Amino acid sequence: MISQDTIDNHAKLIAFQIFTAIEQKKQNNEHLVLGLATGSTPIPLYQELIRLHQEANLSFENVYTFNLDEYCGLSENHSESYHYFMHKHLFDHIDIPTKNIFIPSSKVEPVFLKDYCVGYEKHIQELGGIDIQILGIGRNGHIGFNEPGSSGVSITRKIELHHITKRDAASAFGGFDFVPTHAITMGMKTILSAKQIYLMAFGENKKQAIKQAILGDITDELPASFLQHHNNVSYCVDFNINTK
Ligand code: F6R
Repeated sequence: MISQDTIDNHAKLIAFQIFTAIEQKKQNNEHLVLGLATGSTPIPLYQELIRLHQEANLSFENVYTFNLDEYCGLSENHSESYHYFMHKHLFDHIDIPTKNIFIPSSKVEPVFLKDYCVGYEKHIQELGGIDIQILGIGRNGHIGFNEPGSSGVSITRKIELHHITKRDAASAFGGFDFVPTHAITMGMKTILSAKQIYLMAFGENKKQAIKQAILGDITDELPASFLQHHNNVSYCVDFNINTK
C-alpha cells in the first residue's frame, strides 16, 4: 500500500536539500544545476518546491535544469509530452528564467541527432555538471529512458522504448499502439556524473526493481543497478526492501 505520508516526507526532505543548495550557491554568486525527471513519482517534490517558492521566497533565478528525457515525435503541447508536463507541474509556477530550462527536443531531424545529443551533453558540462539529479525508476529498472540493455557508459541518445515502458504508458496514450516508439534520453554516464542523486520509488510495483538495483548484480539488464557505482545516491522509498 502506498504511504502518502512517507512520500510527502521524502518530497519535503529532498525539496529542503534543494532549497539549501540553491541558497548556498546564491551566496557565492554561483548557479545550481538540477537534473529533473517526469512521471508521477516526482510530482509531490515539485509541489513542495512550488510551495517553497510561494511561501518561503525560494527563487530559482540562479538555477539551470536539464530534463532526463522526451518522447520523439510528440508536439511540445501534447498533454503527454515531457515539455508539457514540466511546465504544468513546475516551471509555470516558479521564477526560473526560460533560458535556463533544457529538455530534450521531441523533434530532432535524424541528420542532426548526433550533434544534438552531443550538444546536450556539452551544455551540461559547460554549466559545471549536474549538482543534484532527481530520478524515478521504471518497473523494468530503467532510469530516464535508459532501457534494459543500456550501457553504463551511454550518453544522451535516441533509444527505442521497451515493451514494459510502453505498456505502463499505454493508458495515458489511449492504447499500447499509440505510445511513441522512441525517445531521447540522457545516458547512464551522464546521470552517473551528477554530484548527488535522489532516486525515488513509491509503491510495491517498484519494489523488485529497487531491490535488484541495490542488492543485485550490476548489469545492463537493470540499468538502475549502475547507480551502485555512485557514492552519493539516496534511495527514497515507501516500502521495506528487506521483506519479500
Ligand atoms: C521520466 C523518467 C522515467 C520515470 C519512470 C517512473 O522522466 O525518467 O524513468 O522516472 O518511468 O515513472 P513514474 O514516476 O510515472 O512511475
